[in-house]
Amino acid sequence: MARIFITGSADGLGQLAAKLLIEQGHQVVLHARNAERARQALAQAPGAEKALVADLSSIEETKRLAADVNVLGHFDAIIHNAGDYKVSSDRTVDGLPMVFAVNSLAPYILTCLIHKPQRLIYISSDLHVQGDASLIGLTADSLRSHASPSYPDSKAHVLLLSNAVSRRWPSVYSNSVHPGWVPTKMGGDNAPDDLLKGAETQVWLATSTDAGALVSGRYFHHQKEKPFLPATGDVVLQEKFLALCEELSGVRFEIK
Ligand SMILES: NC(=O)c1ccc[n+]([C@@H]2O[C@H](COP(=O)([O-])OP(=O)(O)OC[C@H]3O[C@@H](n4cnc5c(N)ncnc54)[C@H](OP(=O)(O)O)[C@@H]3O)[C@@H](O)[C@H]2O)c1
Repeated sequence: MARIFITGSADGLGQLAAKLLIEQGHQVVLHARNAERARQALAQAPGAEKALVADLSSIEETKRLAADVNVLGHFDAIIHNAGDYKVSSDRTVDGLPMVFAVNSLAPYILTCLIHKPQRLIYISSDLHVQGDASLIGLTADSLRSHASPSYPDSKAHVLLLSNAVSRRWPSVYSNSVHPGWVPTKMGGDNAPDDLLKGAETQVWLATSTDAGALVSGRYFHHQKEKPFLPATGDVVLQEKFLALCEELSGVRFEIK
């Protein structure tokens, strides 16, 4: 039995992954943006150990979430699933673009502050190939004033993070996933792909002892590796992304 923490598990793919893992006999800790959503998450996924609360658009709440996870002890795997897709003009309490804060910065903060698990899974998207991984024009100042990375940009950032973790922490399996275009709140009712298949890969990466799942620095769709945007494999860009997140959050990515 494995113990897994899943961000954004009150709904959609995160909730489905939680249910699948619980069905398989694993121990799952959920996460939701507020107490009401946490109550709903637990009601939807009976058998979950607990639901933690934090709005990932807030740097302070995200740091507190990491501390709350650490209080619970060791996790075998963490699925960084929570994601936002709102219009890029929305700003957070920290004055940052919403999509960047939730999709790009929060997984960085949680990765750095939560005790290292054996496996890290980051939910990206094939839309990342339309994103800008160059980080040109992205600085702490520009993000606090006018810069607004798009959803595809944020999903390229997720690949930069996942690949950086794989390189910096060779003892951890760090991989990212494209779930397909699936019918969730985010994907919409007309999404053409299979919802169940959209959750199965992260469940497999979190728990399987198949040789195919015990790899790192890869990008998966439906349990098959696929190429990622080459720029997200660029070490200089990965380090630039880590430095930007450190400057914004004050949290350092330690080689531990
Ligand atoms: N659906 C697709 O077609 C598709 C395709 C490619 C990639 N993805 C990725 O798959 C992941 C899961 O998305 P989904 O399709 O399952 O969408 P979803 O149903 O909208 O679920 C997203 C989850 O993230 C949570 N979340 C969003 N902002 C948050 C915040 N500020 N603080 C805390 N939690 C927050 C949501 O909470 P609430 O429920 O309270 O809003 C929800 O539980 C995302 O990373 C998404 O980018 C989805």
